[in-house]
Amino acid sequence: MPKIAIVDKIHSDGIKLLEDNPKFQYELIEDLSKKNLMSKLPSFDGITLRRGKIDSEILEKCKNLKVISRHGVGYDNVDTKFLKKKNITLLITATTTAVSPAEHIMFMILNISKGIDLYDKAVRDGKFDTAMHMKNNNNFELKNKKILIIGFGRIGKKLIKRCLGFEMKVYAYDPFVDQKTIISFGGVKVNDLNDGLKEADILSLSVPLTEKTHNMINLEKMKIMKKSAVIINIARGSVVNEKDLNEALNNGIIYGAGLDVFEKEPPDYDNPLLKNKRIVLSPHAATFTNECRSNMSVETVQNVIDFFENKINKSMIVKL
Ligand SMILES: NC(=O)c1ccc[n+]([C@@H]2O[C@H](COP(=O)([O-])OP(=O)(O)OC[C@H]3O[C@@H](n4cnc5c(N)ncnc54)[C@H](O)[C@@H]3O)[C@@H](O)[C@H]2O)c1
Repeated sequence: MPKIAIVDKIHSDGIKLLEDNPKFQYELIEDLSKKNLMSKLPSFDGITLRRGKIDSEILEKCKNLKVISRHGVGYDNVDTKFLKKKNITLLITATTTAVSPAEHIMFMILNISKGIDLYDKAVRDGKFDTAMHMKNNNNFELKNKKILIIGFGRIGKKLIKRCLGFEMKVYAYDPFVDQKTIISFGGVKVNDLNDGLKEADILSLSVPLTEKTHNMINLEKMKIMKKSAVIINIARGSVVNEKDLNEALNNGIIYGAGLDVFEKEPPDYDNPLLKNKRIVLSPHAATFTNECRSNMSVETVQNVIDFFENKINKSMIVKL
């Protein structure tokens, strides 16, 4: 009988799939320290993984392991080279993880373009009338604004629909997606990243963290952008160089940013980005909606069940 480790807290809807399932044993593992994972994981055949880092040292001890099912679509917390070498399958929640992040990007764009924090504070502070004449009111309409989506995958494709609903013009930079596909979604394909950066009023990142995307947006790239530009990053912290972003915001090189992800999570308390008023922040929360949390937990657990029952949908398997 396969033994499944559920690493990190997930919504109870997913756990229910194993609760009354006589074909599997399972255990919840909430202590994500390396020491605990090293001592607990070796006896399991399958792992579902939300947060928590599973490196080669841990994997080396997991002699029975056949599958890791990620609660999410990014997998930079797993040593994929090791998985490939040992023929361990990696699964992702391919169908449930895009709508909420796309909505989260819109929430950040709207938050910045409408200066919600300033307004909220003004009303609470009894400055209802003065809010109308605030000097630092840089609010703007989204209509006719140009958004550059870097990474036109699952999230990018949900995002474009929402942007077109706001009558924005959408450009997409993704060397792995052809022009026909981008046009069919109502966008314009950008072949040269710098051309897209020059045009963009808003830049949104939805790429995986890879050697190529690591720090792909740095000061040099920000200097190409408009002074009024806004960068939204819900992908992974290291896709944008944090130090450069802080400098660009403080020196008027770009206007604002929305960050859901950080190079180090949680970020250090003295990370200057946390004090920068030009940034809207959230705690890696792009999937934190009731629907997404429930659907992701069900898909994560169903994937591991389907894997052991030899009926896993190929779209869930990561090609390593
Ligand atoms: N903040 C969150 O909670 C949250 C939630 C979901 C996903 N994410 C992150 O967002 C990423 C994207 O998610 P997705 O489901 O859309 O993934 P996806 O795999 O469907 O799409 C990613 C796209 O990026 C493209 N890409 C890869 N390298 C590129 C490069 N160098 N330049 C431009 N494009 C490149 C790929 O061709 C692909 O189309 C995930 O890898 C994950 O790290 C974060």
